[in-house]
Amino acid sequence: MKTALITGASNGIGLELAKVHAENGGNLVLVARNEEKLMSLKTELESQYSVKVYVIGKDLSLPNAAQEVYDETQRNGIIVDYLINNAGFGDFGFFAETDWNKELKMINLNITALTQFTKLYVKEMVKRGNGKIMNVASTAAFQPGPLMAVYFATKAYVLHFSEALDNEVRDKGISVTALCPGATVSGFQAAADMEDSALFKSKNLPTSKDVAIFGYKAMLKGKTVAIHGIMNWIMAESIRFAPRSFVVKIARMLQKKVN
Ligand SMILES: NC(=O)c1ccc[n+]([C@@H]2O[C@H](COP(=O)([O-])OP(=O)(O)OC[C@H]3O[C@@H](n4cnc5c(N)ncnc54)[C@H](OP(=O)(O)O)[C@@H]3O)[C@@H](O)[C@H]2O)c1
Repeated sequence: MKTALITGASNGIGLELAKVHAENGGNLVLVARNEEKLMSLKTELESQYSVKVYVIGKDLSLPNAAQEVYDETQRNGIIVDYLINNAGFGDFGFFAETDWNKELKMINLNITALTQFTKLYVKEMVKRGNGKIMNVASTAAFQPGPLMAVYFATKAYVLHFSEALDNEVRDKGISVTALCPGATVSGFQAAADMEDSALFKSKNLPTSKDVAIFGYKAMLKGKTVAIHGIMNWIMAESIRFAPRSFVVKIARMLQKKVN
């Protein structure tokens, strides 16, 4: 029975990943700020499947939060087979006008906590000679993103970091998957203040469940980069052949708010 630690499991893609893992008969460590939501997910999953769910309420944008979570799992003798760094958020607006404190929290969560979690658990995985890591990046990782400059840059970090680490640990029995969803129905849009963005106006957006099922399968297969959706895949791949200035203009057009 494999144990998965999932950050950002109280909502959206992370919550659905927790359900998919429980359905597969795996134990869970769920981490997010909203402990109440995590506890009700624990009750739901433990009553539906024969799995154990351990809940840790934590603000992962605070310094050393990942270390505190790691210490708690160590104290409780929990071996993490799958580390899923999913928690993350964005912010919409001109960089000259956006709120630095929100951006600092974003960098702390999307980059620092993700990297620290990976550092702590990958060491254990290397010692054991097995383990899987999934880092939730985004299709935002493939190009610069005007009007969400910091968010896009954090996701470029996640993608590059994951690919490099995968190359380092693959021969040690470990795989690292960068899951790259495109626009997906979740709490993300509200948190990033971008419900009116052209990107999210499409009626046919995938659900968090669609993305979670796709990502979970990709992680089990040990895929390095998993882009959800054929159109997203074509966009992400074709960008390499287009002039960078053109790509940035298109990205801005898609980000723009439409009413
Ligand atoms: N939805 C999209 O369109 C989309 C597209 C590409 C990539 N992604 C990525 O997918 C991942 C999951 O996002 P989502 O779409 O599922 O959004 P969501 O519904 O807003 O869920 C975000 C999760 O992260 C947790 N979180 C936020 N701030 C946190 C903090 N400071 N400490 C601990 N946990 C925190 C939230 O829980 P609490 O509020 O309880 O802390 C929640 O469980 C993110 O990395 C996001 O960047 C999303």
